[in-house]
Amino acid sequence: MSSLEFDDIQGIVLSGYGELPHAAFLMLHFGEPAAARDWVGAMAHRVATGAEGRPVRDEGRLQLAFSWPGLAHLELSWQALKGFSREFREGLAGSPRRSRVLGDSEESAPSGWHWGRPEAPAIHALLMVYGATPRSLQALVARQRETLEAAGIRVLETLESQPLPGAKEHFGFRDGISQPKLAGVSNSKDPRHRVAAGEFVLGYPNERGQYTARPLVSPIEDPHSLLPEVAGGEARDLGRNGSYLVFRQLSQDVHGFWSWLDGQAPGSEARRALAAKMVGRWPDGTPLVGSAEGETGDAQANAFGYHHEDPEGLKCPLGAHVRRTNPRDMLPPKPGSEDSLAINRRHRLLRRGRAYGPPLAESLAPDDLLAAGDDGVERGLLFLCVNADISRQFEFVQQTWVNNANFAGLHADTDPLIGPRGAGRETFTVPDAPLRRRHHGLPRFVRVRGGAYFFLPGRRALRYLAEPPPGLTTPASAPAAPATLLPDTWWLRAGRLFNRAVQQGIVLSRRCTTLRNGLDRLVQKPATEALQAMIRRRRQRLGIDADLAIAEERILPEEAEVTRRITERMSAFLLRTYRHGTAERAGNTKTYGLLEAEFEVLALPQALRCGLFAAPGRYHAWVRFGGPGPRVTPDIRNNGVLSLGVKVTGVPGETLLDDEAHTQDFSAISAPTFTTPDVYENAKLQRLIGAGMPVWYFLNPFDSHYRDMLLQALYAKAHGSPFETDYWSCVPYLFGEGRAIKYRFVPLLAGRSPVPLPAPDDYLREAMQRTLGSAEEVVFEMRIQCQEDPVTMPIEDASVIWTSPEVPVATLRIPAQAFVTPERERLARELTINPWHALPDHRPLGNQNRARREIYYETSRVRQRINGEAHFIPDTQAWRRRREDAHAGRGRAGRAP
Ligand code: HEM
Repeated sequence: MSSLEFDDIQGIVLSGYGELPHAAFLMLHFGEPAAARDWVGAMAHRVATGAEGRPVRDEGRLQLAFSWPGLAHLELSWQALKGFSREFREGLAGSPRRSRVLGDSEESAPSGWHWGRPEAPAIHALLMVYGATPRSLQALVARQRETLEAAGIRVLETLESQPLPGAKEHFGFRDGISQPKLAGVSNSKDPRHRVAAGEFVLGYPNERGQYTARPLVSPIEDPHSLLPEVAGGEARDLGRNGSYLVFRQLSQDVHGFWSWLDGQAPGSEARRALAAKMVGRWPDGTPLVGSAEGETGDAQANAFGYHHEDPEGLKCPLGAHVRRTNPRDMLPPKPGSEDSLAINRRHRLLRRGRAYGPPLAESLAPDDLLAAGDDGVERGLLFLCVNADISRQFEFVQQTWVNNANFAGLHADTDPLIGPRGAGRETFTVPDAPLRRRHHGLPRFVRVRGGAYFFLPGRRALRYLAEPPPGLTTPASAPAAPATLLPDTWWLRAGRLFNRAVQQGIVLSRRCTTLRNGLDRLVQKPATEALQAMIRRRRQRLGIDADLAIAEERILPEEAEVTRRITERMSAFLLRTYRHGTAERAGNTKTYGLLEAEFEVLALPQALRCGLFAAPGRYHAWVRFGGPGPRVTPDIRNNGVLSLGVKVTGVPGETLLDDEAHTQDFSAISAPTFTTPDVYENAKLQRLIGAGMPVWYFLNPFDSHYRDMLLQALYAKAHGSPFETDYWSCVPYLFGEGRAIKYRFVPLLAGRSPVPLPAPDDYLREAMQRTLGSAEEVVFEMRIQCQEDPVTMPIEDASVIWTSPEVPVATLRIPAQAFVTPERERLARELTINPWHALPDHRPLGNQNRARREIYYETSRVRQRINGEAHFIPDTQAWRRRREDAHAGRGRAGRAP
């Protein structure tokens, strides 16, 4: 896994292309996405990788990188988009906080940049063109412009770079000397420079032996298997062999630099020496630590540290540019130690910068640069660096070292060469014996003129970008990374074993149904009442929700974020579990049967008449009986809580969700309290389901849910038939303005079906078939309870059973019918029961209901997309037509457009 795939890694990661000293950087804005993708596909073959040999004669090199808006424009799936690091997604100029920490303020503020301004047309991609001579470069660029134009891609900005004599930068110092050496590429053994490849190339172990976060996608989002597999096939790696590229155009005030030095240290030698102290190397590159007196010609010398050689900075000042940007062995807590070096290795940068603009003086000699005066010409460094983690590497170096006025115990010094200035940040301290020297009033010599963060994909990833699969997820449902990539630690494995043992125990106990039924008769009611009394007393003691009016909701802090996390986890589960087949629901998964029914609204007292219940009437309805999920298991193995979903059709009036019209859904489970009291707890449970140990949610001694567990246990059991249990709404709904209710569906059929032993996998469905096959009608009565007190009958806590009297409002009649047919099965999969398919008068209330709006909507979309099915709008006419079509052999008619 760890030998580098040179033929997939773009060449610039592995080499600075020093043999191609001319370069042009084209900032691109895509037009039509399909045309842009075709162009990317063609570029996948032209972009040079690390496997290509040295360029011959006029041969050039092309490299291609993308910004996050660019990847989104190419219609990359949301799962992949979300997997990129936050800094990259936000962009270099993406937030005031980022600008502040990077020191991009005042003259360097993004609002004044030449390119990359937040309000300017987005830069989607960066095309880097490298050539041996100005002519070959121009020819290459001209060819690229033609293909870009043909693909409808605009070039927003072209930045050109010419080499400066002696490999120097504009202040007159040799640049590009010290670079980290990649393990697997270089055979350097020097612990100061040898750095794990994963620090610069995604998909390889980093300095901690871990993988730096990278974009992963589910296998079903890579149908052509273009990307490498990870985690035993559970995910595909879009990041592998890619990296992040930081690009900043840094303008250098060369005249300002040398004239300030002239004011501080008159005389050619003193000026030069002070400038060298600011950089940390002499103009020819000789390190000050090696030779404090002057140049030795050993420009490439790099095998030095600071702690042993120069602990006080007498040779190379503590705050010098190279000492800040790569402190080597001087980092606390134990300078000079192996640990110090190890910390430093996690903040290295692979610099790939190039100079732009003509030199102020051709020779770049300090005296000539001073003598040249101010020519007002723009020049500087196109600072480019490659790193796997922009935040830990580039941003850390810039914020914590370059811009930090207290670096290495200093007080008011930022990086003397490139740092920002301002009150208390304008000093350069030169340690000396017996007394240090302080230079005050340091001006800013380097200003930011533009910049962006890019992703530099591997070649296979480039091909993937050219043909993204149909997006299965949306911004709300896309999981950032497949949840299976949890570390497989011993405690997780032990947790799963424990979980399995408990579940086995529960399954075994289910076989003793006679005993259980007897116990229920004795214990269920008093135990529920005792637990509920405890919960109510606590709520009364603490006055929880006492400030709320009847039917009033309270939006909880962070609710939207928690909901998003649950949605992501559930879609991650779907993407992973059903990658080879037909996706089922993420919850309430197993369908025992989808039945046609009649929903009859009863004549109600005037005060209760509203919405669907405004007048007596009969409606066609679909009724789904289901099991808990998240997987389809033999009935005896499920957790014993059944669910009921009712979709009343042909309802006059608009529903709250606009994907359906004229439907009113009801959903309920065979327990009076919900598994989790609110969304926060639900998010915890979902996390543990993802980790394969939901039992821990209830039993964790540090965050226990014993009461919820006992309440669930009192009702969770091996049912004989889905027709013989009560179904509670658990969470409240509006019932006309200012009235909140909970409801219950009560079977009018007495419980009489035994649990067969041994139990067939689908014995619940068989029990339903037996009942409906014998021409018997099954009837449920729907009863409501009104909220009378916000504390003891809360809206936001689903673990509390309301105690108000029940009023019958409707009957649900399920006639005898044959329901085990392929059409019904398909319809059951396509139908979406969502409590938000509701008239405004019956609006769902409470945090779990609010969350369900997004969770159900998004996860059913993911399921439908995996299955290639459109949302089915279940009006009865359409269903009948479809059934007739199916019988007439006309296939998949009746699907929603
Ligand atoms: C116009 C702006 C800049 C100039 C003129 C400049 C100049 C130099 C020079 C002359 C060297 C010494 C030669 C070498 O080791 O390669 C150097 C080293 C270095 N610079 Fe810069 N630099 C600039 C911006 C930056 C920025 C923005 C960063 C990062 C935030 C940076 C990070 C480094 C690093 C990591 C080294 C190597 C230090 C070492 O390993 O010893 N430089 N720079």
